Amino acid sequence: MILAAAMCAAPLALLASANAVVPARTGGFGEMTCHQCHSENPLNEPSGTIGLSGIPDTYTPGERYLITVTVARPQLVRAGFQVSARFERGERTGRNAGTFEPSDDRTEAVPDDGGRITYIQHTAIGSTVPSPGTGQWTFAWRAPSDPAAPVVFHAAANAANGDGLPLGDFIYTAIATSQPGAP
Ligand code: HEC
Repeated sequence: MILAAAMCAAPLALLASANAVVPARTGGFGEMTCHQCHSENPLNEPSGTIGLSGIPDTYTPGERYLITVTVARPQLVRAGFQVSARFERGERTGRNAGTFEPSDDRTEAVPDDGGRITYIQHTAIGSTVPSPGTGQWTFAWRAPSDPAAPVVFHAAANAANGDGLPLGDFIYTAIATSQPGAP
């Protein structure tokens, strides 16, 4: 715990005014999760839940879908998330599948350091919740126009205690898959 706090000291100083979320923390394809820093409580601790809705079982190439991420836990007063959409198998395994489009100022699309994978995540404003207990975000996903393979979505979310620190928070992860449909 003390070790984790020390490791997170640098990003705190650098990014505290904006948003400390770093890309590539969804847990997919060998990535770490938010639990790297928000590590005080067990991952997927049973007092909370994460939900992914709007992901089609079968996607139509080029179609725009609205996806909603919900994280719930009674004590939650602030919250955040990150989602990726990547090809699950085939030639482009692990590469971006389609594109994310924020539909309001509560989410933003952010590329990783190499500019290879783009994630969607909460903004600073988007970490606030209208009432305690639930954090929720809706954004658009444009399916790939040249469907090659199933798309796997990885989500990680933080049911946070609002202390402005990585301490005392609860991290939840989820996975969903969408199969390629006919054009
Ligand atoms: C590299 C370390 C690190 C990782 C990884 C990380 N965070 Fe954080 N997070 C921090 C730090 C430091 C703070 C406190 C400063 C701030 O709010 O910017 C914080 C604060 C937060 C808060 C506000 C917490 C509160 O109780 O007020 C939320 C929400 C949050 N992070 C969401 C996430 C989500 C979602 C992920 C994963 C997708 C994530 N973080 C991954 C370091 C990290």
